[in-house]
Amino acid sequence: MSGRTAPWSATVLTLFPEMFPGSLGHSLAGKALAERLWSLETVDIREFARDRHATVDDTPFGGGPGMVMRADLVDAALRSLDTGSADGRPRIFLSPRGAPLTQRRARELAAGPGAVVLCGRYEGVDQRAIEAHGLEEVSIGDYVLSGGEPAAAVLIDACVRLLPGVVGDARSLAEESFERGLLEHPHYTRPQTWNGMAVPEVLLSGHHARVAEWRLAQAEEITRLRRPDLWARYAGQRSGKGL
Ligand code: 6GU
Repeated sequence: MSGRTAPWSATVLTLFPEMFPGSLGHSLAGKALAERLWSLETVDIREFARDRHATVDDTPFGGGPGMVMRADLVDAALRSLDTGSADGRPRIFLSPRGAPLTQRRARELAAGPGAVVLCGRYEGVDQRAIEAHGLEEVSIGDYVLSGGEPAAAVLIDACVRLLPGVVGDARSLAEESFERGLLEHPHYTRPQTWNGMAVPEVLLSGHHARVAEWRLAQAEEITRLRRPDLWARYAGQRSGKGL
């Protein structure tokens, strides 16, 4: 046995496979993809349509606007993975009705073998396909996208950057927003004075303990002002530790 395990793998089921790798082919995720630190495959749901017009959607029972993706096609696309690469990876359906994506869930997914990600289009996907496959519904925020593809790219990016070796300096992962339950402190670089604005004096002091103290205070203040929800949880944990 070689010590190497298969890299983290994402399979995206979509009506628009040409949208991938898209942003995932660039920058950090793209470099890691080229280095085979992870792999990406798309499944074109339309290829499972059997009629002449390759119909993938139909009008909703009960009436109303828009179209619904057919359960039988989503089912066929998901089943096509069973013999090959599916292998116990979590199966996720991206939808504004899903549970909010969190850094915690991204960390869990990154620690596993990968993810199978279904992108919906139109008004949604027939509920029976979601139930039959026990899909985990995930949303990337309280707003509506025209399809799940950008959300799939968001979810995969959030996971990939947590894989070993993808981010060069692992310290940047430990300090960033959400990892401590706080938003991140502000950053500064050269020039030291720009547009008449100086860099905060403490950052030039070379005094590491005072820099750390200042950054924590900034992170706490920005979190308190912008995200009362995160702040309440953080403040509760802090007082629980007697701080
Ligand atoms: Cl996952 N899909 C769509 N279509 N819209 C969304 C979303 C997902 N998350 C937030 N809005």
